Amino acid sequence: MNIVYLNGVFQPSEQARISVFDRGFLFGDAVYEVIPFYQGVGFRLQEHLDRLRHSLRAVHIRSELDWADLLHELVQLNGGGNLSAYLQVSRGDSGERRPQYDEDMAPTVFACCRPIPDIYQLGADQIKPLTAIVTADLRWHRCDIKITGLLPNILAAQQAREQGADEALLMRDGLLTEGANSNLFVIRQGVIYTPKRSSEILGGITRELILELADDEGIPYQEVDIDYQTLLAADEVWLSGSTRGVVPVVSVDGHTIGGGDKGPMWQRMFQLFIGFQQALMTGAKDV
Ligand code: PDD
Repeated sequence: MNIVYLNGVFQPSEQARISVFDRGFLFGDAVYEVIPFYQGVGFRLQEHLDRLRHSLRAVHIRSELDWADLLHELVQLNGGGNLSAYLQVSRGDSGERRPQYDEDMAPTVFACCRPIPDIYQLGADQIKPLTAIVTADLRWHRCDIKITGLLPNILAAQQAREQGADEALLMRDGLLTEGANSNLFVIRQGVIYTPKRSSEILGGITRELILELADDEGIPYQEVDIDYQTLLAADEVWLSGSTRGVVPVVSVDGHTIGGGDKGPMWQRMFQLFIGFQQALMTGAKDV
């Protein structure tokens, strides 16, 4: 059974109802998080919840629950195991359609789960390398806020799909920002490059972890501007995201990247990732 959480009630998804005047539905006036749980253990849960609070503050939605408790309960009610939890907070129901809102509105809090593969149980050889296209980044200038208004991301992802690619990389003013659904890394001569954290990209939780792991291992990295030529000339390209971890990209706009296969730097980062996750699962690390 698919149990969801809606405004204080855990219930089967078919029974959950929201108002047609909910501002999340009418305006995309809502923020969200996607948090993987492996065997019931949240992946960087605190970091995800900190980002949720950042998003809520940035759009002036006042909502503070015991998010961790709520998610743990939802995960258990859905049988535990490997699940990704989706948590959305909209500004709530204004009873009519109007852009302005009242300060004292009650937010709509919704959460659900879906099964995900445990990427950490897979060997590197089971990870499928991806292909990508580059397309215009048509989003607003506050991409650091995780809003549900994902139409530009959806159109870009669909364009990739129609061109037979797995992901769309977004470009603004001649520079790559991130993927439609992921952060971007370019590897050249043993150095990891990634666009700087700014309001033009989402501060990815997985992105931060990759940089932390690189730091711990003494792998050099730089947060820099990346243009199209730099992207195509890379030895390796990676994408990162909470439910997929770190994944190699072997072709961009039909151009082969590096040797056209999973590169040695990716192999190393993937192993570091697995090590991190195992420490998390066994409680060996307070992460
Ligand atoms: N999205 N950039 C964008 C635009 C994203 O949508 C995502 C993830 C990321 C990676 O962030 P993180 O490592 O914190 O998952 C970067 C989620 C998974 C989604 O919308 O489903």
